[in-house]
Amino acid sequence: MKKIKSIILISGNGSNLCNVIKYVNSGYIDMEISMVISNNPDAKGLVIASDNKIPTLVIDTSKGFDDKLSEIIEKNSIGLVVLAGFMKIIPKSITDKYDGMILNLHPSLLPKHKGLDTHQKVIQAKDKFHGASVHYVTSKLDNGPVIIQGKYEVDDYDENIMKEQVHKIEYQILPIAIKWFVDGNITKLDNRFSFNKEVLECPIQHILDH
Ligand code: GAR
Repeated sequence: MKKIKSIILISGNGSNLCNVIKYVNSGYIDMEISMVISNNPDAKGLVIASDNKIPTLVIDTSKGFDDKLSEIIEKNSIGLVVLAGFMKIIPKSITDKYDGMILNLHPSLLPKHKGLDTHQKVIQAKDKFHGASVHYVTSKLDNGPVIIQGKYEVDDYDENIMKEQVHKIEYQILPIAIKWFVDGNITKLDNRFSFNKEVLECPIQHILDH
């Protein structure tokens, strides 16, 4: 069978991108990363992509973003789009056209704390648990069906420590979600998803592998 071709969108450090590349190179995830796209020309993740011989593109999200993204997806026969630390909103024309084909990594236990500054929101709410989610992208921000989540009990409300803890979780759940996608285990339904054809009403809870 032909490998699924993917694009990964980033805005910054790209540590999750680096981690996904590691799992692709090891053969755990059977897909091709056709391109890494960033809205930020200074994103460190672009260097990580180039070092791994993956084509990169800096895209201006303020004009013609939907047409450009759609053209890349069509020209390269892309079957999966992964948002791994992409800090811009994907236009509705794209989320509608490629429904079920776009995954986003979000640093909170969705549906809690959609949008930006999730660590600050956890601090303010004094949440007992924090974590990360991978979900299908729809036109409503951070609202599509959540596939997998990992959580930890917060014992230190320092933002940097939280970021580190959440990253550890992300490095486990994003490769798993991508693997499930490329292996055909998961399928998006309207506001739910199925795993091996069984309809699930809530996210799969990942038990952390420390
Ligand atoms: C990750 O924590 C990801 O969940 C978050 O950005 C970080 C990127 O880290 N994404 C969002 O906040 C999207 N709204 P990285 O660049 O080191 O992978």
